Amino acid sequence: MNIEDLKRFKQSGKKITCLTAYDASFAAVFDDCGVDVILVGDSLGNVIQGGENTLCVSMNEMIYHTQAVVKTTNQALLISDMPYQSYTSAQQTLENAKRLMDVGAQMVKFEGGRAHKASFKILQKHNIPVCGHLGLQPQSVLEMGGYKIQGRDENDAQRILDDAKMLEEWGVKTIVLECIPASLAKQISQSLSIPTIGIGAGVDCDGQVLVSYDMLGITQNPPKFVKNFLTNGSIQSATKDFIQAVKNQTFPTNEHSY
Ligand code: KIV
Repeated sequence: MNIEDLKRFKQSGKKITCLTAYDASFAAVFDDCGVDVILVGDSLGNVIQGGENTLCVSMNEMIYHTQAVVKTTNQALLISDMPYQSYTSAQQTLENAKRLMDVGAQMVKFEGGRAHKASFKILQKHNIPVCGHLGLQPQSVLEMGGYKIQGRDENDAQRILDDAKMLEEWGVKTIVLECIPASLAKQISQSLSIPTIGIGAGVDCDGQVLVSYDMLGITQNPPKFVKNFLTNGSIQSATKDFIQAVKNQTFPTNEHSY
């Protein structure tokens, strides 16, 4: 899987599957099962470190987990998250993105829209592939007043749509859309030539991502958009069921959407 494949998937209507992994063993399982993209998410702050949010995750920790995941990721495209406060200026963004790419990430992801224009532009200039992240931004959970659906009112929806278009213009390769109404995610997906990857954003995104610990039913009291795929059988069969459900668009259903 490479970056060009992402766009090809969108053009041919083939859905992109993505799961988070933080260590070599889980990455090997997901990779063997044929997931398209593995994300070393800063959700490791929650599921590995037991934090209330992702603000506790450092650059060194993202590098450590990326190094582990790289070792067993052979087929999937590997994206690594840039953690809180690691992209506050263009120069800092470039330095930290390079650190992740140097240990084997193929793309970096960071949260936010137009406020980070200088960061997007410097990575575009240096040919470092970027995944955007709009809608609910867990690193801004305090400013957003909690883990709430975004884009419900017209102005907010328009702002997210405009941000998505700007990110495409600034060379971003794909955008994660988190916790926005399914109708807005559909409109954004149809407006862009780069693929969207949804989480709590309805079935019409160009792909779906889940935190693997949610997909495997480990997380207690998960959000509405989560489905536990490990009700029977093995981690491998749960992973294959998730991939199949995304590919044939039986996940997410309305029950998992806003
Ligand atoms: O950190 C993460 O796992 C993420 C996903 C929720 C998309 O950003």
